[in-house]
Amino acid sequence: MLTSCTIEKPAAPSAHVPAELYAGLAAEAACISPKFLYDALGSKLFEAICELPEYYPTRTEGAIFERHGAEIAQACGAGTTLIDLGAGNCAKAAALFPLLRPSQYVAVDISTDFVSEALARLRQRFPHIAMSALGQDFSSGLRLPDSVRAERRLFFYPGSSLGNFTPAEARAFLRRLRGQCGLDGALLIGIDLAKEKALLDAAYDDELGVTAAFNLNVLRHVNRLLGADFDVRRWRHAGFYNEALGRVEMHLEAREAQRVRWPGGGRSFAAGERIHTENSYKYRQADAIALLEQSGFEATRVWLDPRRWFAVIHARAIAPLGA
Ligand code: TRP
Repeated sequence: MLTSCTIEKPAAPSAHVPAELYAGLAAEAACISPKFLYDALGSKLFEAICELPEYYPTRTEGAIFERHGAEIAQACGAGTTLIDLGAGNCAKAAALFPLLRPSQYVAVDISTDFVSEALARLRQRFPHIAMSALGQDFSSGLRLPDSVRAERRLFFYPGSSLGNFTPAEARAFLRRLRGQCGLDGALLIGIDLAKEKALLDAAYDDELGVTAAFNLNVLRHVNRLLGADFDVRRWRHAGFYNEALGRVEMHLEAREAQRVRWPGGGRSFAAGERIHTENSYKYRQADAIALLEQSGFEATRVWLDPRRWFAVIHARAIAPLGA
């Protein structure tokens, strides 16, 4: 008899389930790509994480935008083609609209419905800005339709999502953006800076367990995508700063030995075995600037909070080395 309680009916496994999902689950060190964290509920749980006292990045970055908004807008210039990468509820960009005064706003997010709904609300508040939503996984390349103006592109990448790539992946990602900048493009990016381990451990394992719920929810999403039978109650969240590697690691850890099945496959997990769900690299300011430089961007301004926990960097596209 099945003792697990499944609230949603598993959808028919899609023929388009990304091969990487199967590959990650089958790998000896299992992993699930972090993009699967953001189904509709996952996007809402992440919004809740941003409200937690322990999760400082969103609040700290917000304070930087609030305090230095005028200067940031001045560095960016008015009338940009603002391309918001991982727009989510579009709140960060919307807060900047009055200062930034973009001429076009393009909200890109993997959670298509979530971003479309957010944009529909935003259109009513800012009817004079041309807006479009793109439901896209841009981590391996952004496809911009012709309707996106090629001039004055400003790629907005807040929240330190860059830290969710390895440094090598981050470089490759930034180089591709550089390629879509034209001659006058720029980047406005948030970078979470390296800091004390205790602060990072708490930020990624909060006392209410919202982060745990967010991380565990990925198993429900995988159940729907694959028709798998992960029993969420048999897993626990693990989130901690790995000082040697300069990154926060997020894992799901099996509470007990178990077998998980999906149509056409399955695997066993030993007690304590982990599925790696995300990394969040924390950079030193100089390293972040060097990373941008290696990717064809020159940092023109850096804004920090008083505790130097977070950096907002404006960088303009420069000619790639060797060009
Ligand atoms: N990209 C966010 C970050 O690195 C996402 C995040 C926050 C996250 N808490 C998490 C991802 C817990 C997985 C598990 O800060």
